[in-house]
Amino acid sequence: MIITIDGPAGAGKSSAARALAVRLGFRFLDTGAMYRAVTFAAIQAGIRLTDAAAFESLARDIDLEVTDDQVLLDGHEVTDVIRTFDITCATRYAADHPGVRARLVELQRQAVESQDMVTEGRDQGTVVFPTAEVKVFLTASEQVRAKRRHQDLLARGENLSIEEVLEKQQARDYRDTHRKVGRLVPAADAIELLTDGMSPGEVVDRLQEIVQAQRNS
Ligand code: DC
Repeated sequence: MIITIDGPAGAGKSSAARALAVRLGFRFLDTGAMYRAVTFAAIQAGIRLTDAAAFESLARDIDLEVTDDQVLLDGHEVTDVIRTFDITCATRYAADHPGVRARLVELQRQAVESQDMVTEGRDQGTVVFPTAEVKVFLTASEQVRAKRRHQDLLARGENLSIEEVLEKQQARDYRDTHRKVGRLVPAADAIELLTDGMSPGEVVDRLQEIVQAQRNS
């Protein structure tokens, strides 16, 4: 069974998808981590992110392994270093690049193989796994998402104002919903879940109910 959870930045997809996978005994795939890791790899290699040909060739050459709780780039753990604010902002070049996207979509499909999986991102239910059994579009209001991101960044020791986080989030939302390939849009058969006012536990409970209802149908 494949369960896709798509939605905008800061909607709490990663933690909800991860917790759902644990409850169901499924594997978990954080596809945003792949866009982050390929961006990190390009910066490390000194490649200009606007150099489309070099960026695509790097995306095809790197060895990227994303497990339930680790991201390995050419065998080295990069799980935490890909989560800085700078990398978050720079990921747009990877996300907007059709060739890089095509490579990451290939890797995402390979990662699933024949395993039960909860996969999380922007285009999982629309592009990558259009025949997934359960599709959820998880979202929250702009203010709730920005507050969540801001708290995450403060916890990581990155001191940004909430206004700055909100401004960057608005720019990212715009790009996510307007890119030519893999843009953020709910799949026609996705169930939309607005998480404002819900605790993380309530979100996972609701997701589990959605999966159960699908299994019973
Ligand atoms: O979910 P996240 O913040 O870790 O995502 C990082 C970036 O990758 C963000 O700019 C959106 C992009 N992304 C994407 O385009 N498609 C996906 N399936 C996952 C993430």
